[in-house]
Amino acid sequence: MSDNTSGRFFEYLNWLFNPFHGLKTTEVYDLIGTTSLTGNALYLNLGYWRDVDTIDEASEALALLVAKRGGMGPGDTVLDCGYGFGDQDILWARSMKPEKIIGLNITHSQVERARMNVADAGLGKSIDLREGSATEMPIDSESVDLVVSVESAFHYRTREDFFREAFRVLRPGGKLVTADILPTENSDNLFRRIEQWISWSLVAGKFNIPQENCYLIPSYDNKLSKAGFVNTDIKSIRDDVYPPLHEYLARDRTFVGKLHPLAKMLAQSTFSRSADSVYAGLDYILSYSEKP
Ligand SMILES: C[S@@+](CC[C@H](N)C(=O)[O-])C[C@H]1O[C@@H](n2cnc3c(N)ncnc32)[C@H](O)[C@@H]1O
Repeated sequence: MSDNTSGRFFEYLNWLFNPFHGLKTTEVYDLIGTTSLTGNALYLNLGYWRDVDTIDEASEALALLVAKRGGMGPGDTVLDCGYGFGDQDILWARSMKPEKIIGLNITHSQVERARMNVADAGLGKSIDLREGSATEMPIDSESVDLVVSVESAFHYRTREDFFREAFRVLRPGGKLVTADILPTENSDNLFRRIEQWISWSLVAGKFNIPQENCYLIPSYDNKLSKAGFVNTDIKSIRDDVYPPLHEYLARDRTFVGKLHPLAKMLAQSTFSRSADSVYAGLDYILSYSEKP
């Protein structure tokens, strides 16, 4: 093992198995690198599994679900917060044909790769990928028709700052759509509650989810209203995300084969448990709201 490889090995070991060791969000994504669940692209989302069979289809389906919920179409200026490697932006530019997509992402390594992907796709004129935070947008007020965030807002410090910024940059009548991860409501059953706590804490710890973002759908709704949004609609889509994803990953070994040996061990022990237990503490929502 070279010094670099052994350094990475211990970084991984520490991240996966040391409960007291947290990484910053950008460090987590630098460590994950291009180990995407998908085979044909570099999506980093868990997918929307209604009527699809593979993670590639499910990741695209989630991106399209968000875009369609926001009514994305020709003439729109779209702001995409947390764009990963930019695959969703390329998909939207081709299929929904908005006028312009601006992206914000804080992970430098992803920004560089995403820009290359966009240039290779010949979409450099319509997709402008920037390095910056969704909580402090380098974007003019009232200049955007649709703000979207696909499986990213749970990271923001804080999500409320993101709501405030999204409201500022949207034109009157503009829309905000998120696919986002929340905790589930505590069960009355003590054992189930412990299972929920373990499930949420593991994900929140490993993926650096701030405590301030840990609340249920009614609070999500309230915080959107507090930021000024109206006509909010939030629904849980967890049954179309976690159980089919779990089943797929347990069945198809392609993704596990791509993992670091330590992560592989953890993944294998995870797949031997039921989805109901592994994801007990995790909700998954699709939220829609409008700026009056
Ligand atoms: C789970 S990945 C999802 C990536 C992409 N949306 C997808 O579906 O493949 C979360 C993304 O959010 C980005 N991110 C985290 N915090 C951010 C922030 N404050 N502002 C902008 N992007 C952020 C990460 O760098 C990463 O690209």
